[in-house]
Formats: sequence, C-alpha cells, structure tokens
Amino acid sequence: MALHLRFGEGVSGRGVYRVHFPLLKERCRRLLRLLHLEDSEASIILLDDARMADYNQRFRGKEGSTNVLSFPAGPAEEDDFIIPEAELGDILISLDTAAREAGEQGLSLHHRLMELIIHGVLHLIGYDHERSEEEALRMWDYEKDLFQRIQYTREHAMPYLAINVDHIATIRQARGGMEPDPVFAAGLCELAGADGIVVHLREDRRHIQDRDVRLLRQTVKTKLNLEMATEAEIVDLALEIVPDMVTLVPEKRKELTTEGGLDIVENAKKVTKVIDRMRKADIPVSLFIDPAPAQIRAAKDAGATFVELHTGRYCEARTHKEQEEQFRLLERAAETAYEAGLRVNAGHGLDYRNVQPIASLSVIEELSIGHAVISRAMLIGLENAVREMLSLVRSAETLSAED
Ligand code: PXP
Repeated sequence: MALHLRFGEGVSGRGVYRVHFPLLKERCRRLLRLLHLEDSEASIILLDDARMADYNQRFRGKEGSTNVLSFPAGPAEEDDFIIPEAELGDILISLDTAAREAGEQGLSLHHRLMELIIHGVLHLIGYDHERSEEEALRMWDYEKDLFQRIQYTREHAMPYLAINVDHIATIRQARGGMEPDPVFAAGLCELAGADGIVVHLREDRRHIQDRDVRLLRQTVKTKLNLEMATEAEIVDLALEIVPDMVTLVPEKRKELTTEGGLDIVENAKKVTKVIDRMRKADIPVSLFIDPAPAQIRAAKDAGATFVELHTGRYCEARTHKEQEEQFRLLERAAETAYEAGLRVNAGHGLDYRNVQPIASLSVIEELSIGHAVISRAMLIGLENAVREMLSLVRSAETLSAED
C-alpha cells in the first residue's frame, strides 16, 4: 500500500511549516505494514485552515476548521465491474491546526501530523470513536500503540557512532608522558567500526594537546570532530588544522566535564562570528545545546549546520518519570531542529544502559560518546568496548515495528 502524501491547493503554510515528506512517508509505510495494508492506497492531503473549514462545512455541516477528516472510499457497488478494494479513501489534514495543536501540547509538528495520520487511517478502515465510548477507548489505545511502534524505531538509517577519546589523553597527562596515545586509540576505534573521532581541545589543555589534533587530522580516516570553545586562539587553530567539523561547547575552567549546552541566545554574536569564519573554510559547525526551542531557533539564526543535543539530563535522571520527561524534551527538540533544517546529533553521558532510546530517534544522525566507552575499555579493551556500543546503537533499528 501507499499513502500518497501531498499539499492541497492553496496551502498558505507551505513555506511556513517545514514538512519533511520522506520522513512522514517512511513512517506511513511502517503504519501500513503494521496494519497489514500493504496492498491498499490512500491519499493524505495537507491543507490550510480556510480550506479545511470549507470541507468541514460542506461535508459535516460544522463551522470552522478541524484537524483531520477522513473520507472512506466506501464499499463497492455489487454490480461494479472493478471492485476498488485497494482504494481506502482520502484523509485531509489542516497543517495550521496540526501546528497549533503541536504547540499547545509541546509536540513537534511531525509528531502531531503522524498522530493525525494514524487517526485518519483507522477511520478509513472502519474504526469510529463516535460509535461508543468503548470503541473510542479501543481506538485511542490502538492509536497510541501504533504511534509508539512507528515513532520510536528506525528501520534503515542508523545513527553514526563517534567516539570521544579525550580520556585516553587524561590518563596520559596523569604522568605527562607519551602513553596511552589518543591518536593510536582513535585508530583502534576506527578499526572496531566507529564512524568518527571526537576530541575536545580545551583552553587549559588538560587532556588533548595541539599535537594530538594535528596528528589526528592526518590519521583519522572517518571524520574528525573538534570540540572547542569560541576563544580566538582555538578558533585560529581550528582554521589552520581544518577538522571535518567543529562542535562549539561552553567551557569553564573548573568544570570536570561540559556542564550544559552553550547558550546561543546569550552568545549569538560571538557564535555567529565563529560560524562565519568556519564557513569560509568549509568547516561545518555544530552547536552543543540544551534541548530547548529558543536555543534551536538561535542556532538556526546563527547559521549552524548541526546542533548536538545535550543528553546529560536524560542520562542523569534518577527516576523513571524524570528520565521519561527528559526523553520527551529530547525527542521534541530533535524533531523541531530537523523541521528547522538543522542536522541533529546528540551526546553527553550516554552509556550502555541508556543509549538505545536515543539511538532509536530517527532524525538523530550521530551520537558522540566518550566516558562510558573509554571506561569499559579499561576492563575489556577498546575495540571490544567500541564494538559493544556499536551493536547497541545499531540494534536500536531492530526494535523496529514488527508486525
Ligand atoms: N558531546 C559533547 C559536546 C561533550 O562535551 C562530551 C564530553 O566531552 C560528549 C559529547 C561525550 O560525553 P561523554 O564523555 O559523557 O560520553
């Protein structure tokens, strides 16, 4: 089956809302598989409020717009020569209303659109919440279940795993000698299948040194991501070394590790300036931010290519409820950033227990993980530690929507 997705005529929101059709189509495909409707067809048309109000008036005699309307194709007449059993009907969705509801409920636009598509498709196949309270509850439960199975799985693209090797350098610096060498460690990570190497060149040079970054530039075969603050000296060095990308992070001298996202709203001018300089050298910039809508907007305005969502609070959550809340914030932020045209990475604090829900968020491209992998490497070896993490990240895809 295919759900044919398109904009209706006169959609004023076409430029206002960034609807990502490939993402929705992929989710629609999973929905149809779950419903065993692979051989059927339906059209989903995205309208504005004005057109929706028109349909609502004409077909239901109701004033004003609504979020979704379903028009089942209806049973074939007995004497129909061709029985159109493959054609389920049409679903109309108001983008204006979906966006408003998403805002009110603290959801991303794509989250709300998918809920409405599921609702519309269930109507097409005969579910009707208006028939009885019991059926309404049944339909609602089924919608929630389908949504879970579609949204929190990824079947194809899986996130890349980039390994942060700072702590190899931390051990070296403990004695101030040559061992262990983060450059050698980076090679081992790549041999074990890591998709990228991350290092944070701190102003105080507490772990990674200039020499490491220069050598890594020559040896890393995957992708070198240089984490750094916006200080002029480090910016100049980055421009000289030209890593594959830079991630701007906040830096405090006394902190043990990065404590929170970079406040782009506060530091817009400085950040924009660094991004402009990097752009001239063709270096994409990622901004490490808290999962907050204002930070995402500011990141977009500053001209970032990526945001890296700070997963620290999700990882540190002490109760299931708190972790769930933090997860929702990350999920929403990931989709909001994606809708805004940003590419999305995530990291900080991820470990072997908490990584899979984050890895299953389908708009996240890359996870940056350091401490957990290097700690495990002490006990089981670096290549084994990387392989174990890779298998968790990659099997997040196979939590997939099984029928
Ligand atoms: N992302 C950023 C921006 C970081 O600063 C760090 C820590 O250096 C990480 C990811 C990796 O965090 P962790 O070492 O907790 O995996």
